[in-house]
Amino acid sequence: MTRSPRVLVTGSLGQLGTTMVETLRAKFGNENVVASDIKKPAPEKRATGPFVYADVLNYRALEQVVVDYGIDWVVHFSAILSAAGERNPALALNVNVNGFQNVLELAKNHGLRLLSPSTMGAFGPTTPKDATPDLTIMRPNTIYGISKVHMELLGEYYTEKYGVDFRSLRYPGIISADSPPGGGTTDYAVDIFHAALKDNRYACFLKHDTRLPMAYIDDCIVGTMQLLEAPQEALTQRVYNVHACDFSPEELAAEIRRMHSPDFAIEYRPDFRQAIADTWPRTMADTAARNDWGWNPIFGTTDIVRTMLDKLGPTYASVNSSPPAPADAPAVIAQQV
Ligand SMILES: NC(=O)c1ccc[n+]([C@@H]2O[C@H](COP(=O)([O-])OP(=O)(O)OC[C@H]3O[C@@H](n4cnc5c(N)ncnc54)[C@H](O)[C@@H]3O)[C@@H](O)[C@H]2O)c1
Repeated sequence: MTRSPRVLVTGSLGQLGTTMVETLRAKFGNENVVASDIKKPAPEKRATGPFVYADVLNYRALEQVVVDYGIDWVVHFSAILSAAGERNPALALNVNVNGFQNVLELAKNHGLRLLSPSTMGAFGPTTPKDATPDLTIMRPNTIYGISKVHMELLGEYYTEKYGVDFRSLRYPGIISADSPPGGGTTDYAVDIFHAALKDNRYACFLKHDTRLPMAYIDDCIVGTMQLLEAPQEALTQRVYNVHACDFSPEELAAEIRRMHSPDFAIEYRPDFRQAIADTWPRTMADTAARNDWGWNPIFGTTDIVRTMLDKLGPTYASVNSSPPAPADAPAVIAQQV
């Protein structure tokens, strides 16, 4: 393609979509990246380029966007995540299965490249937990995991049968400061920084020793761009594990104590998300992603902690130093940035 591709991002107001749209616009030009969601964007998000309402459950509406804007590539980020999915399995099934099928049909009918992320949640309790390979037992027992296995297999089927250019990566938990997480089982690894800076204490919904794969959002977005732009012939498979680092809540808390406050207190109150985390890998093998399209994360656990504290610190410094609110005013709640 000699001109810049025109890219549609679904679910663009979520944790990952926010940064992905900025990155795509910086690379391909603001007007070539159409952001979409079913939520109303803040004015500053609308100002940087086209934004449209697009419900992924409505094939015709999606098709209209593809035709009107001459879309070449779709980055499909609309989804209901693991914890939110267990709260509302019917919604998760609808959005994750029917929404994906709509986007896949669109890719087939209009010759689009389609990148739709999967997750470590596509693995299950019988999957080997350490250095989990790309190809292994996949019998997840969450509605999120089941819908993502469906997505992976259907994407591969459309690639084989119809030549659709489908690409996917199995993300670990993604940690970000600029956009809040959307209802996953690794959300604690973002929440803990807000709580440390605001209250110097945190009640964690996972047990102290629950080790899970994680990545900082910058690595996640760089890797997603690499796979999105990789030449077809470089791809030896359609779905890739990606791993950056792994830690447990107690290890994360120790780093926060070391870098922020020796008095930081954490208590453990595991809830239904513990049962989800218990079925996921501790580490994933990602050699194919590294060899085929250059996955090379640079943020380790210490880098993530330092970056999160640096980015969020000023927000809480200004909130914590505000004058006390009048007795009849609502309490100031630190904004999740
Ligand atoms: N964030 C993570 O840690 C993580 C980890 C593994 C995989 N993933 C995957 O990455 C992708 C993006 O995740 P995220 O964290 O940004 O999710 P998120 O929950 O933050 O955002 C999802 C977006 O989808 C939108 N959406 C919901 N229903 C919709 C519908 N019917 N039509 C259109 N949009 C709809 C929501 O409004 C939301 O803005 C998902 O496929 C997710 O499974 C994320």
